[in-house]
Amino acid sequence: MNHSHERATALRADGSLRHLLTLDDLPRPMLERLLERAGHYSRPLGAPAARGTALEGVTVATLFTEPSTRTRVSFELAAQRLGAEVASVEVQLSSRLKGESMLDTVHTLESLHVDVFVLRDAQADVPDLVARNVAPHVSVLSGGAGSYSHPTQGLLDALTIQQHKGRVAGLSIAIVGDVRHSRVARSAWHAFGALGATDIRIVAPPALMPEPGEFAGCARSTRIEEGIGGCDVVMMLRIQKERMAQASIPGADQYFAEWGLTRARLRLARPDAIVMHPQPMNRGIEIDSAVADGPQSVIRDQVRNGVAVRMAVLEAVITGRAR
Ligand code: CP
Repeated sequence: MNHSHERATALRADGSLRHLLTLDDLPRPMLERLLERAGHYSRPLGAPAARGTALEGVTVATLFTEPSTRTRVSFELAAQRLGAEVASVEVQLSSRLKGESMLDTVHTLESLHVDVFVLRDAQADVPDLVARNVAPHVSVLSGGAGSYSHPTQGLLDALTIQQHKGRVAGLSIAIVGDVRHSRVARSAWHAFGALGATDIRIVAPPALMPEPGEFAGCARSTRIEEGIGGCDVVMMLRIQKERMAQASIPGADQYFAEWGLTRARLRLARPDAIVMHPQPMNRGIEIDSAVADGPQSVIRDQVRNGVAVRMAVLEAVITGRAR
């Protein structure tokens, strides 16, 4: 991401959260508070969903220019369950297709009294650009920006680990697969590092390894068998075919043979290791269905926690706002 300009600041002068665009500038106490509130809103499958009133009178707009199932739906459910009105902007049916700029679209929605924008874009700079151009009472939340950041995914991953392992501090966590193109990996690394994970491993084929200066402090491995050995958490990543025009990677069968997480490979991790995947999954490419649906998988808990985390974030930006 180009940082030649001043980035939008996450916090207001009083220390409350205004925007959530990345986890790299979020103070640890704020991160811990968000996780604590998310834990409050998290419910087991089958229990009634948590509800609240913190967003009554508030309007939230989701504006996604890349596909999404989990992030968009869970942001919208989170906002509704806290009492907000939600405008889900269909970009393919909006005036963006007539050439309207992102900022003109945003300013139009501001005129319609939108208080919070949730944005996803293939261009890493877009949420920051919008955050620097909205009115002072308006907040911007990233639902995923290029390969740069996916902050609520990082939070829900941390919450899921806390629930299954009791903590993040001191754990060995292997992030495996297409790390180079992964905003999920970058936000997870920020969250796990801030929460005290002692051994974060980047495990990827050479073509999918991030640049040498990235992921400071992480061990790197180009063999999955070595990279997941003895770890507490195996976080698999999706092969991002849409972002890898130049990367030379093998075909699906060969990738699965060399890099797929199978039951046999999972036995190299700790016996009580958990398996994570942000989804959408390429079953039979980066992960075997027997593992994705197996007893060590917490993948569906990650999805469930998505709503809780997004409720906590929406609540934080609205309750901290001057009225
Ligand atoms: N994990 C995630 O971001 O999923 P979606 O692309 O479906 O939102």
